[in-house]
Parts: sequence; C-alpha cells; structure tokens
Amino acid sequence: MKLVICETHNELGTKVAMEVANLIKNKPNCVLGLPTGDTPISVYKELVRMYKNGDIDFSQVTTFNLDEYLGISNSHPCSYNSFMQHNLFRHINIPKTSVHIPDGLAAFPDEECKRYESLIQTYGGIDLLILGIGHNGHIGFNEPGTLFDTPTHDIDLAFSTVQANSRFFDNIEDVPKRAITMGIKTILSARRIILMASGEKKSQIVHDAFTKEMTTNIPASVLQTHNDVLVMLDKEAARLFDK
Ligand code: PGA
Repeated sequence: MKLVICETHNELGTKVAMEVANLIKNKPNCVLGLPTGDTPISVYKELVRMYKNGDIDFSQVTTFNLDEYLGISNSHPCSYNSFMQHNLFRHINIPKTSVHIPDGLAAFPDEECKRYESLIQTYGGIDLLILGIGHNGHIGFNEPGTLFDTPTHDIDLAFSTVQANSRFFDNIEDVPKRAITMGIKTILSARRIILMASGEKKSQIVHDAFTKEMTTNIPASVLQTHNDVLVMLDKEAARLFDK
C-alpha cells in the first residue's frame, strides 16, 4: 500500500483526478470503476474542468459504478445513476453506452448481479477502481461481515449506512434498505485501486483498515492483500498516520 497525504480536500480531489487523467492518456480505452458519495465529488469536478479545458477525452473510456440502491429508478433524484449524471457524465464526452451502473429496478436482482459481474469481465476487468470508505469500513456497499470472496451481489444495508445516507433523502424512511454492489472479489480483481478518504471523521476507520489485522468486520482491510493500492487522504483523514 502506498500512502499519499494531501493538505486539503480539494488537493486530494485534484490529485486523484490526475491519476485518472494519466491513465486515460496512457490507455484511452481504459475501464474505470467509480464511486459515489461526498468524497469523490471534488474528483469529478476536476475531471469536468480538465475535459472542458480540452485536457482529457472520455470518448473511448468505459465506466462501471460500484453500486446502486435497489427499489428506486435510475431517474430518482437520489439514485446513484442520477448522482453520476449530475456530477460527471452529463458534462463529459463519454458515450451513454459506455456507462454501466447496476439497475436499481431489476425484477431479479440475482440475475442483474450476474449480468453486471460478467459484463465487467467482458470488458477485460477494471483498470483503475476508485473507492471511498464508509464510517463502518464498507467499500462499495460491502458492509461489515461480507465475505471476501463475494462477486457482485445484492445486500441489506447496515443501519449506520442508512442513517449516514439519509442526509440525501427527505426522511430516513425513504432511504432504500437494499442495494446491488460490486463484491469484494470484484473489487480485488481491479488492476489498480485508489482508496480516498477525507476529513477527521474517517481518520480512525482508515487507520484501522490499513494498520490492524485484516478482518471481515472492516471490509476495507482486505485491501491490504492487493498489490497496487494507493491510499490518498487529506490531512484530517490522515491524522492517525502522522503519529
Ligand atoms: P462518503 O461515502 O464519500 O459520502 O463519505 C463513502 C462511502 O460510504 O463509501
């Protein structure tokens, strides 16, 4: 694991965006794995800025999002599909057909998970996967207790995740309780992984994930076994690594 500590949240976003831009320059038809949440918004802002500046071309890039809620439509304002359209896709020149996000209204979630997993393989796997980390150590929606050998699957969200995500909904009852997520096996099969975290509130969990013994109680700790992980933090999230 390599650790990069940035002075500010914005610098973190810029540096992660640079990693993405460099990959696209070296491999224009690369496959990206993308997260949602507050943390990557600064990355997407910077990628949009670079695109508008003519510094980056998404025309051959393929993306796979990490996860999507089950039970709400793609066009629901709180779906991860809407989040991605709003923060990235509608501002750049990526073809619609190159964007992949699990279908939150799939009638048969099991089938949708299998379809998604095999689609990732069809594209040759993920070149660069960007991850955030939940307060409980989840990556994607792989909540504590998820086995490390799971492929893309549907999952019950932990109550703490429902609570954390209720900030995007009118009230907590509206937050979907289930989701489809790339599994930990899917995540580990990415050729390169960047885990990013921002703010003091993530400092303990990110420190535990990379300094304590690997455990399914902290899903992100499995990244200790991956041979190309870059952990990129702002100063506040890195607070415990400084000691
Ligand atoms: P956040 O979410 O970026 O909104 O903190 C991260 C996550 O839950 O994976």
